[in-house]
Amino acid sequence: MTNAFTVKNLSYRYPKAKQDAVAGLDFEVREGEIFGLLGPSGAGKSTTQKILTKLLEDYRGSIQCFGQDLRQTGKAYYEQIGVGFEMPVHFTKLTAMENMNFFRGFYTKGADVQALLTRVGLWEYRDVRVGEYSKGMKVRLNFVRAMLNAPRILFLDEVTNGLDPANARIIKDMIAEFRQGGGTVFLTTHLMSDVEQLCDRVAFCVQGKLAEVSTPRELKLRYGSRMVTVEYREAGGVERRSFPMEGIGANAEFLSLLREKEIETLHSGETSMEDIFIRVTGVKVA
Ligand SMILES: Nc1ncnc2c1ncn2[C@@H]1O[C@H](COP(=O)(O)OP(=O)(O)O)[C@@H](O)[C@H]1O
Ligand SMILES: [Mg+2]
Repeated sequence: MTNAFTVKNLSYRYPKAKQDAVAGLDFEVREGEIFGLLGPSGAGKSTTQKILTKLLEDYRGSIQCFGQDLRQTGKAYYEQIGVGFEMPVHFTKLTAMENMNFFRGFYTKGADVQALLTRVGLWEYRDVRVGEYSKGMKVRLNFVRAMLNAPRILFLDEVTNGLDPANARIIKDMIAEFRQGGGTVFLTTHLMSDVEQLCDRVAFCVQGKLAEVSTPRELKLRYGSRMVTVEYREAGGVERRSFPMEGIGANAEFLSLLREKEIETLHSGETSMEDIFIRVTGVKVA
């Protein structure tokens, strides 16, 4: 499998900062996958994206993009990447369409802007000034902007932040389709639902370091255990207990609960990515 990125011992310190924002990251992003960088606020996710998109240059360590040293890539690199910034950046006095035409002008190849705007529900608002857009509309326009040059690699920083569930779903579907079309996605998020629904592989980032790089499935197998949760009546209230699925039929405590208590609900579930993150890093994500 080809690597879109091979990152070795990547570190970065902001000018005047006392410590590294990114402190020795090693990871690979494979061509055609959705790679998620996950972590709490301040972990170094946005900084890592800014380095990979060549916004921050004097990093330490090495980055190869499709086998080429990132430092050696020229303007052609920007033709290949689409970037969704954490904070939407648009000209507020211009309409959405004027903004998109402006940004599209930087590139030699382009995507179908009408199709993209239609998909995110903004085509009918294309002639409205972006200054009049709601937060969610700006976020959706920001995503369209990242897709404008029909990129090979898409960078998305907290792409669903500020979106209602229906609009978040549309964007996630579009990201999944982009991957199906052969595109590579590097996304950063503090939202577990993004990871569970989208990512092929995920890296946990805390204080500029990676704690774990794996697939959501592998993480669940390794750290997760399937549990059965029982809710039962006790002293006028409802109590709740969880038991491991393994050996449940021989679990005396579980069986006596079933026999002796009035059961309200009984359900099984997998450990969530959120629980796993906390277990691996000892830090709460959001
Ligand atoms: N422009 C900057 N100048 C100095 N420090 C910064 C700057 N941007 C971010 N940082 C610091 O770098 C660390 C990582 O930040 P960031 O990459 O934005 O984290 P995340 O995206 O995971 O929330 C934080 O401690 C943050 O305060
Ligand atoms: Mg960030």
